[in-house]
Amino acid sequence: MKHAFLKTISPLLLSGALAIPAVSAFAESYIPSPEVLESRRQFADDRFGIFLHWGIYSMFGQGEWYLNYGPDAKEYSKAAKGFYPAEFNAKEWVSAIKDAGAKYICFTSRHHDGFSMFDTAQSDYDIMDATPFRRDILKELADECQKQGIALHLYYSHIDWTRDDYPQGRTGHDTGRDPSKADWDSYYGFMNRQLTELLTNYGPIRAIWFDGWWDHDEDATPFDWQLPAQYEMIHRLQPSCMVANNHHQTPFPGEDIQIFERDLPGENTAGLSGQEVSRLPLETCNTMNGMWGYKIKDQNYKDTKTLIQYLVKAAGMGANLLLNIGPQPSGELPATALSRLKEMGEWLQANGETIYATEAGPFPAQSWGTSTKKGDRLFLHVMTPETDAIVIPENVKIKKAKEFISGKPLKTAKAGRHDVVLLPELPDSRDFIIECEI
Ligand code: GLC
Repeated sequence: MKHAFLKTISPLLLSGALAIPAVSAFAESYIPSPEVLESRRQFADDRFGIFLHWGIYSMFGQGEWYLNYGPDAKEYSKAAKGFYPAEFNAKEWVSAIKDAGAKYICFTSRHHDGFSMFDTAQSDYDIMDATPFRRDILKELADECQKQGIALHLYYSHIDWTRDDYPQGRTGHDTGRDPSKADWDSYYGFMNRQLTELLTNYGPIRAIWFDGWWDHDEDATPFDWQLPAQYEMIHRLQPSCMVANNHHQTPFPGEDIQIFERDLPGENTAGLSGQEVSRLPLETCNTMNGMWGYKIKDQNYKDTKTLIQYLVKAAGMGANLLLNIGPQPSGELPATALSRLKEMGEWLQANGETIYATEAGPFPAQSWGTSTKKGDRLFLHVMTPETDAIVIPENVKIKKAKEFISGKPLKTAKAGRHDVVLLPELPDSRDFIIECEI
């Protein structure tokens, strides 16, 4: 089978349009280091992380894509002069996230609007030089994550709607940039110097989470992002740092995580997925309401039951849930988001044993719910019971079953070749968990 990455470069190679030395050499020879394998293992055990989309776009209250829809980038950039998130408190953020049972944070170091939320020497369009706040938000967050023992991942946009040297792709056409000044070498160098800063000045970063490859995908203009050398640099700067890329393809060589956006692995309701599921650790990212960056009109938050069930369904497929929050321009996490975090935390406190450090269950999701597994302990997560019994797929034989929370034994029976577990009155409509010995 042809790899998606090779598919991307092969038209170029065939046409002789571009010579890409070292590409296949590195791509084919990526052998994850022991350090990165350990990160993958920790990551896969975590099951739950919080995504934070925060930048000066929060000031407009219209999501992180606001710049794409019209304002001139120079006019937009003036918002930075008023960006003073007086309520920002890294300790409070990290505590709330940790209490929610999340094990890692993925923070937008720089989104498509090109504004850096960290102290960069590569541009003045950053939190230190362009705002009156002059506090390195990322540094405060990174220090706090370390203090509280929560892993930090950094979102980094491959797209830049503000810089002239970024070769214009499918998006950001109306921001007043001059496409004739596109200069890939200059832009690539800029990104790599910023990534070097991120991986040098902020302590251990467990993953770099790229986004934007699709701006120049193979259906548009063939384009060489020179990912192998960038990935190699990341792995060299911090051997335990994983590479992830939200390109909506099967993973490319050099990547350590497979990402799904707004869909569970194998599903495609949002139109961004459907790619083959790899054997890398899996992560589904999704929003708590409908938007990633703070959107004032979007109060359409998923309820706690939906969020818990989504986390459980992800775990049942062996995937992590990276659940997003868009902090407000004040530096506060929205009140509804905080209340969801609290309730998820309470649930995980009681039931986390059936989620963290589990594997996908031995059968696909069923009409009644899903399953997770730890050694010979199988956890049945009954979320939508249709009758007073659940039928187990025939590849699994149950020796004993009990209610996870109370430990009360549950009756089992046979229905043809299938084992059946008889359900009591269900006290928890979100997820009734049965622990089985198999
Ligand atoms: C998309 C969007 C972006 C968001 C990301 C999160 O790629 O472009 O705004 O950051 O999804 O998954």
